[in-house]
Amino acid sequence: MTPTGSFDDFLKFERQVFGENLPIPIYDGLMIRYGEYRFASEMLAFNPTDAVLDLGCETNIFILYLAYLGMCPLGVDLNPAVWPDLQARAALVERATGRKLRINFCAQDATQLDLPPASVDKAIAISSIEHMFCAQGNGDQLAIASLARVLKPGGLAVVTVPMSEGDPFHEEPVGDEILAGPYRLYTPETLQERILSQPDLEVVRLGYLAHSTPDPRFPPLYFFRFWRDILTEAERAKWAWANPILVSVFNPIIAPEEGASRLETVNTALVCLRKRAWPSGIAKAPETQTVFHQTPGYLHSAPGRVFSDSPLPEGKTIVHNAGLGEPSAMPIPLPEARSPEPHPLAVTGNEAQLADRQRIQALEKRVVELETYVHGVHRGRVWRLMMRANRLMGRS
Ligand SMILES: C[S@@+](CC[C@H](N)C(=O)[O-])C[C@H]1O[C@@H](n2cnc3c(N)ncnc32)[C@H](O)[C@@H]1O
Repeated sequence: MTPTGSFDDFLKFERQVFGENLPIPIYDGLMIRYGEYRFASEMLAFNPTDAVLDLGCETNIFILYLAYLGMCPLGVDLNPAVWPDLQARAALVERATGRKLRINFCAQDATQLDLPPASVDKAIAISSIEHMFCAQGNGDQLAIASLARVLKPGGLAVVTVPMSEGDPFHEEPVGDEILAGPYRLYTPETLQERILSQPDLEVVRLGYLAHSTPDPRFPPLYFFRFWRDILTEAERAKWAWANPILVSVFNPIIAPEEGASRLETVNTALVCLRKRAWPSGIAKAPETQTVFHQTPGYLHSAPGRVFSDSPLPEGKTIVHNAGLGEPSAMPIPLPEARSPEPHPLAVTGNEAQLADRQRIQALEKRVVELETYVHGVHRGRVWRLMMRANRLMGRS
């Protein structure tokens, strides 16, 4: 079975590359990245022939996963130093998976994105637009306008930004005691104004990542506090392997209406936008949409695509092509699923508890499925960690 681009496949890929020493749980103390990638995987249904753009890519693992799936994604970041690190990670993935990756990189300001219009099928901007500031206006709005311009009609973008967890909108252009660099924390209102109101982009879905779970044994913010405040750094590193599975339970994607009633648990806004088929200012959809540059190339050169030979724009843009070779099609075998075993805290009781119990069972099933899929075997290790969390939190 070849990988489908699902979130579960992403986790399996990550484990294949890093073993139990997963980097995301260590650097992502807020435990949001997995939820963001889960949303992107679900909304964008990636296809190997997609022209994919990652805005503010940094050295993230998800862009490497897209390359592993056969795409040749273009990473854009203001910081050119990102590229050597991304290449080093790409080489690590190649060694671990036996696949050749192709990735392009372009050091650019995403608020003034200098890419051909209507050239991108799918774009992601994962926790990056909130860091974008510029002299010409609101950097976040300008980055969204850039996305609107480079997406093909019907093209999709997933944009994620941090929420203020019930506090007022926070805009910090130079950094403060919380974050060294520029950043924003959004409210539902500023999210609407800055991210959701671009006239050429329609909102396909808005969701929130919340530090909560439908399992009543674990109150809101419970696991987040356990992970961030109770565990030592060494313990977090030791249990990094379990974090993506736990996060999928304790950091669910919820509807905006649900989030509005408990904004203090809402950490991140997850937005999927679609470029309107008839963008404002364009009388008719273009017949030929693919206008990519070939060499050194902004975007990818998938078989069967048509490329323009128009010259690269002059100026500050730096363009690199990883040239890491062609992807191979190495299948990933699916392990046999085992049926879930009840755990020690399984609830029994009257009918009023039935709904809770069903929700708990659904979560348990998901944990078992994921553990089995990602680790190839279910040893109940994730549940044991959850029970330990229960004991530790009970004492705190
Ligand atoms: C938190 S990191 C992004 C994380 C990454 N997307 C991921 O999936 O892990 C934010 C990135 O945005 C980049 N950035 C900030 N302002 C930018 C701008 N105006 N244009 C492009 N990139 C920018 C920074 O250099 C940084 O690498």
